[in-house]
Amino acid sequence: MITDKMRLGVNVDHVATIRNARGGKHPDPLKAAKLAINSGADSIVVHLREDRRHISDDDLINLMKELDKPITLEMAATNEMVDIACESSPKKVCFVPEKREERTTEGGLDVCSSFSSLQEYIAKLKSHNMDVSLFIEPDVDQINAAKELNATAVELHTGEYCNAFDSHDVLNIQKELIRLEEASAHGYNLGLEINAGHGLNYASVASVSKIKQITELNIGHFIIGESLFVGIEDAVREMRLLIDTARQS
Ligand code: PXP
Repeated sequence: MITDKMRLGVNVDHVATIRNARGGKHPDPLKAAKLAINSGADSIVVHLREDRRHISDDDLINLMKELDKPITLEMAATNEMVDIACESSPKKVCFVPEKREERTTEGGLDVCSSFSSLQEYIAKLKSHNMDVSLFIEPDVDQINAAKELNATAVELHTGEYCNAFDSHDVLNIQKELIRLEEASAHGYNLGLEINAGHGLNYASVASVSKIKQITELNIGHFIIGESLFVGIEDAVREMRLLIDTARQS
């Protein structure tokens, strides 16, 4: 359903990244998640990576126990991760591609080439009452495959758009926005929920917020980075305001 309200999922992985630089318990992703929720986040996003470089298994357990807003668990499409999801039962699971050597998720999943394993995983997660999203490029073939797999949602990768935005490349900003708009309309018409994210910041968020078929943005690195200067509450509030203002314009 197209709504005026855009949901904001705040990814707190990089609070864990800072903690993990020293070990110990500080700063605590749970505390950051609670502050983000109090400041306007609709959900909390975490990526349990195979190498556990961000959040840990215990973080996931604590977040599930303590938070009163939905959690989206990003994870690789593996047996280990599907078992963890079934045990912890977050509201939504988002499958992302994962490579050990990458710094962050690079590009979307190739849904078409891992169709049969995804089919099995999605059926299992949905039978445990979880929504399943696939993080993909804004590409018609990927969206069609996601629909065939009975995914609940797709999360459109905004990385190329954000790269163009950060390098002030006006032509590519337009090109990537059109890709996002067309993919959003296509997925929406197929009945998929449309989410988007990756690389968004205060400057690039407005244009994506105006795409009415997109109902959720997931944003992490910029918000956590900005929190160093203004605190997480102000960073989330500012992002929320920019999204809401663009959505209503
Ligand atoms: N969505 C997905 C599927 C991601 O993998 C990430 C990065 O973890 C994000 C959104 C958030 O991206 P960023 O941290 O660049 O805001």
